[in-house]
Amino acid sequence: MDDLVQLARDKDKGKDVAIITINNPPVNALSPGVAKAIAQAIEQVSKDVAIKAVVLIGGGRTFIAGADIKEFGKITSGKAQRGAGLLPLLLQIEDVRKPVVVAIHGSAFGGGLELAMAGHYRVAAPNAQLGQPEVKLGIIPGAGGTQRLPRLVGVAKAVEMCAEGNPISAQEALKLGLVDHLIEGDLLSGAIAFSRDMAARPLRKTRERNERVRSDKDKLGVPEQTAPVFAAAREKAHTKQRGMMAPLAAIDAVEAATRLSFEEGCRVEQKLFGECLFSDQSKALIRAFFGEREVAKIPDIPKDTALLPVNSVAVVGAGTMGGGIAMVFANAGFPVLLKEADQPALDRGLATIQKNYQSSVKRGRLTQQFVDERLQLIQPVLSYDDFGKVDMVVEAVFEGMELKKEVFGQLDRVCRPGAILASNTSTLDIEEIASATSRSDAVIGTHFFSPANVMRLLEIVRGKSSSKEVIATCMQLSKKLGKVGVLVGNCRGFVGNRMFGPYRREAQFLVEEGASIESVDKALFDFGMAMGPMATGDLAGLDVGWRIRKEYRHLEKPGVRQPFAEDRLCELGRYGQKTGAGWYKYDENRRAIPDPEVNEMVRRWARAAGITQREISSEEIVDRCIYALVNEGARILEEGIALRAVDIDIIYLNGYGFPAYRGGPMWYADTVGLDKVYRRISEFHKQHGELWEPAPLLKRLAEEGRTFAELNREQAVMA
Ligand code: 3HC
Ligand code: NAI
Repeated sequence: MDDLVQLARDKDKGKDVAIITINNPPVNALSPGVAKAIAQAIEQVSKDVAIKAVVLIGGGRTFIAGADIKEFGKITSGKAQRGAGLLPLLLQIEDVRKPVVVAIHGSAFGGGLELAMAGHYRVAAPNAQLGQPEVKLGIIPGAGGTQRLPRLVGVAKAVEMCAEGNPISAQEALKLGLVDHLIEGDLLSGAIAFSRDMAARPLRKTRERNERVRSDKDKLGVPEQTAPVFAAAREKAHTKQRGMMAPLAAIDAVEAATRLSFEEGCRVEQKLFGECLFSDQSKALIRAFFGEREVAKIPDIPKDTALLPVNSVAVVGAGTMGGGIAMVFANAGFPVLLKEADQPALDRGLATIQKNYQSSVKRGRLTQQFVDERLQLIQPVLSYDDFGKVDMVVEAVFEGMELKKEVFGQLDRVCRPGAILASNTSTLDIEEIASATSRSDAVIGTHFFSPANVMRLLEIVRGKSSSKEVIATCMQLSKKLGKVGVLVGNCRGFVGNRMFGPYRREAQFLVEEGASIESVDKALFDFGMAMGPMATGDLAGLDVGWRIRKEYRHLEKPGVRQPFAEDRLCELGRYGQKTGAGWYKYDENRRAIPDPEVNEMVRRWARAAGITQREISSEEIVDRCIYALVNEGARILEEGIALRAVDIDIIYLNGYGFPAYRGGPMWYADTVGLDKVYRRISEFHKQHGELWEPAPLLKRLAEEGRTFAELNREQAVMA
């Protein structure tokens, strides 16, 4: 045993309770050394006749966040052997002949919950969370979780927890019987007292239990009764976790518990766990897990950079974005001044906020009390009078340089020195906006995605003069707001929208070349995108791009092909969902209905423009659209607009509906092989001309046989 695990006795008169404390900061992951040290401690207390009960607890901020995820990469890359994992340790705990009470605070996730379930009792702090989140990493519980959980909470809840991966609260765990007692106040002393109370009772091994039955659908050993539970879970997984193999494997593993003995069930679980672990899906999802944390690390901004205080904010503009951004801040507990240009616009903005909150209450996502408290935090105003008091302003007025500069000039006059001045612009030059102030170091882009209160992505746009303190504060703030903040450089469209341009351009070209609108959307939906590109355009409003294109037309190179169909649709008043028609027709519930007339119209226009019509395979559709993302992504990397390939991937997973199990466009390209991607892009270059010129970085990596992921963090420098 070493520093990772400590064994002590309680300090009370009896000194007959052993306390095993796990200390593997920051989250007590069950690294191999930890499991070994727990096993040694368990062996010692088992032999010690003076010990009447055992409390197993986590030191620091949490109980156990699960197995050590870093170990999985070592196993799949052949650097470590896959052994029996945690299973023997859990059997050893369950077989102890005195009560083992597991005391949970923070998170008991994955292997952490599996270990807890091997104890004879579980007590928890009221704010603890318990869950089997493995499917989010593309794997399934691999230490008996799919077998012990149904024995404690019943089949239906176990399927839900293992297949969906969402944690439950300590209160729910208590109701379900997963936790035996909640402890207010000091967890350790409460657990010790509880363990003494349990010392005289007969011991129950979880693997031998099956009494948590609310109905026959919850019971082990009657597969014909539980079959509908699994059928429903599979159907749900096919729609809600489309394309993912782990949820289906988790369902199979829990189903095995209903038919087989504990030991046989564990063998099924192990087999399925192994299949998932070695899949491309889990490699992509595990990389995304670490990637989400890596994007917070900015090489030239030290961890100890002083943070600016942000306790109150103001939002300028209460339109689509401003209203959503005000909700984001209010939801995180910040008081918000919400400024509009005039009373009717302010009333409209507030009404939309109220409507959005009410619909969350109706759906049971928020309580009325929570909503009332948040609304109290939003103070509508028509002037800048109180702006001197706030720590940060987010501007979300119409997209237009002149107006933005006017607003920033005002902010410069009224805001206190040290306040952060942020713009939500989606296309404009953040440095030019900053030039309207006398403090460009305080200016930064905070590019929220629509709907701002729902989408997790926040692109943080760094101007040349944005100070390190301002950047570090915004990165930190994104976490408080429940967002994934990714730092990007200043260029048109930043990272996400700049790449989305070529993606949607290719989708339109394909339609102009003869693919039907529906076939383009279907190919990309089947690839795993949350929505096809044409339907996405209709949702966002085709007129948005149309207006931008009109503004930037002077920058287009003569002779270079441009898509035209979308602009023509806009000229016909077909702006998408908001006008009831775009690429598709929409019914009153905004359901898309294919419109053969549009397909025919585009074909006519294309023939008139001399574009040959042909059959196009779904493989070509996917390659054209996805490789357009990859090629632009490579340029972005080369220019230092994104720090690392993973930053681009995290943007695409959280803001653009890219399938998480494919890891993001850059990771996907690595998985396909950059030489193959480069060859395909070169073919497109020959066929379609200069828009497809391969990015030099892609060419170089392909020739060197390397990957985007290999470009390491030390090389990451921002433009
Ligand atoms: N293994 C290895 N490292 C882990 C880890 C784990 N299980 N969980 C977290 N970490 C690391 C993070 O990478 C991060 O490292 P960094 O500081 O170097 O970037 C550090 O611990 C702190 O993590 P967070 O920044 O995420 O801290 P938070 O306080 O925001 O969140 C948490 C804590 C809710 C526990 C969150 O870290 C989390 O969800 N962790 C993963 C939980 C999980 O998926 N568990 C299942 C693992 S698989 C398993 O158990 C298989 C089993 O069935 C056999
Ligand atoms: P919007 O048109 O819905 O709202 C803009 C609001 O600003 C209007 O309510 C208007 O009355 C108000 N306004 C104008 N001048 C003002 C002033 N001087 N003071 C206070 N309020 C003023 O626009 P939307 O869509 O919310 O866009 C806002 C910004 O967010 C733009 O820069 C846009 O590019 C960006 N953005 C938009 C996204 C979207 O999907 N709509 C996504 C991400 C960024």
